[in-house]
Order: sequence, then structure tokens, then C-alpha cells
Amino acid sequence: MPRDKLLTSNVLSKQSEIPVLISIRQVTKKFGRITAVDGVTIDIYKDEIFGLVGPNGAGKSTLVSMLTTLTKPDSGEIVISGFSVLDEAPSIRKMIGFVPQDIALYPTLSGYDNLKFWGGLYGLKGKLLKERIDEALSFVAMNDRARDKVNEYSGGMKRRINIAAALLHHPVILLMDEPTVGVDIISRHYIIDAIKNLKNKGQTIIYTSHDIEEMELVCDRIAIMNAGRILKCDRVDSLKKEAGTKSLKDVVLEVILSDNRKSGSKLNRV
Ligand SMILES: Nc1ncnc2c1ncn2[C@@H]1O[C@H](COP(=O)(O)OP(=O)(O)OP(=O)(O)O)[C@@H](O)[C@H]1O
Ligand SMILES: [Mg+2]
Repeated sequence: MPRDKLLTSNVLSKQSEIPVLISIRQVTKKFGRITAVDGVTIDIYKDEIFGLVGPNGAGKSTLVSMLTTLTKPDSGEIVISGFSVLDEAPSIRKMIGFVPQDIALYPTLSGYDNLKFWGGLYGLKGKLLKERIDEALSFVAMNDRARDKVNEYSGGMKRRINIAAALLHHPVILLMDEPTVGVDIISRHYIIDAIKNLKNKGQTIIYTSHDIEEMELVCDRIAIMNAGRILKCDRVDSLKKEAGTKSLKDVVLEVILSDNRKSGSKLNRV
């Protein structure tokens, strides 16, 4: 079987004829009595920024974690660029960069040494590793503080190094789970600009945030999740048009509140 299955997928989106990079089919994941992800089916296309939005406990991080192969679905199928998350996890791990919601850095090492560690895990070394670290640090504007220890950073600085770590190996797909929580508005501005630049270079990104305005700035399409299910999935402009509003926030609120009314749930299931 050819190892380079990237973009050899013959699955095309019906509307746009853009290749489907990630196919998620009837995926369910339970933790004890909680169904975190409940029969989710979505296609994610090459080069798009795809947003997951929904209340606390909606299942966003669990879905993202299954895409990273760190969490296994109980049922259903996820195929990324032709590779199955169940049987071909090592091939998928090489293709993805993951910015986890919970910061994953060694506090007693400097930001630079953390990046060296992560780069080494991706097989980068020598001159290339140094170049990639410098590039990633510039991306998050952390060159000046890179030699300081992580436990001396502010919360936002840790977040920025967390993002840099996911970019070192130039992943085909970037998974960003609430990457800008606690980041100041100026840094956020730079990060969002940089994300748009990555998109223009052909980076596929899956993005979650509770900041709907940020989602609107960044995402091409959005899936609205509640209680493990996808309630709506469409382009941002189509969602607003269908609801007859100019505000994505109103769309998201109405879709989720209406689902809660139907299911009789109060807030969410956390
Ligand atoms: N490892 C786990 N063990 C038990 N339950 C879990 C685990 N991970 C997630 N859950 C549960 O699954 C549900 C979905 O959680 P998840 O973290 O995916 O939500 P989320 O949409 O990312 O929420 P948030 O916006 O708060 O980050 C929650 O009810 C949560 O308590
Ligand atoms: Mg989450």
C-alpha cells in the first residue's frame, strides 16, 4: 500500500470538489455513563479552517483527541488522508500538530529547550531543528523570552510556546484546542493573523474556541456541537444567512438553546 496517501484520496466534497482530508463516520465515545461524542459524522476538507463550537462538555476536546489518535473511538470510523486512526495511528501522528487545551510543557526547562525536546520527538535535529525552532518562536512572537524557564512565563506566554511546539514539524493538519485562552488581545491578533497566513499557505486547521468572534474571523466552516452531537455544520456565512442574522453568536446560542429545550437539559452535562 503506498505510504504517501496524502491527497490521493478520491473522496471529493459534493459542493466544492475539494478533496476530503478527514472523514469522520458515526463516531461515538463514552466515558462510563457519559456519551462524550455521540454518532458524529463530518467531512473536513483540505486547506480549510474548520471550527468546533459548543458549551463546556459538548465533546469538542474528545473529538479532537480522537483525531490525534490519543483517544480511541468506541465505534465508528475516522480516516485521515487515507489512514485509519485505529490501525494506522503512527502514520497519522506524523501528519498532525496538536495544540492541547491543557498546556503540555516542562516547567523547569526553557521555552527553547521545550521546543528542542518536541522537535527531537518529531525526528528534527541539527541545523533544521534550530531553523524550525526560530521560525516557530517568531510565529508566536516569543523569541525574546525563549531562554527563560517556562515556570517564569505568564499564562499567555505558556500558551504561545504550546502553539509553537505544534508547528515545528510543519504538520499537514493542525489541531488547535482553545489555543488563545488567556492570551492578550495583541498577541491574539498576531496569532490569528499568523493562522490566516498558514491557511493561505495551504494549512488545514481544526480549531476550537469559546470566543465566537474569533471563530468567525478564523473559520471557513463551523460545526455547532451540544451533548456530543453535531447540531449544525456549514459555512459561517450560510449559517448566518439561514438564521437571518448577522451575528454568529446569535446563531450558536439559538441552535444550542433550542436543542436544550428539546432534550430538556438545563445547562450542560459537566
Ligand atoms: N477522560 C475522561 N474521563 C471521563 N469523562 C471525560 C473524560 N474526558 C471527557 N470526559 C467527559 O466527556 C464530556 C465531553 O468533554 P470534552 O472535554 O470533550 O468537552 P469540551 O466540549 O471540550 O468542553 P470544554 O469547552 O469545557 O473544553 C464531558 O462530560 C466530560 O466530563
Ligand atoms: Mg475542551
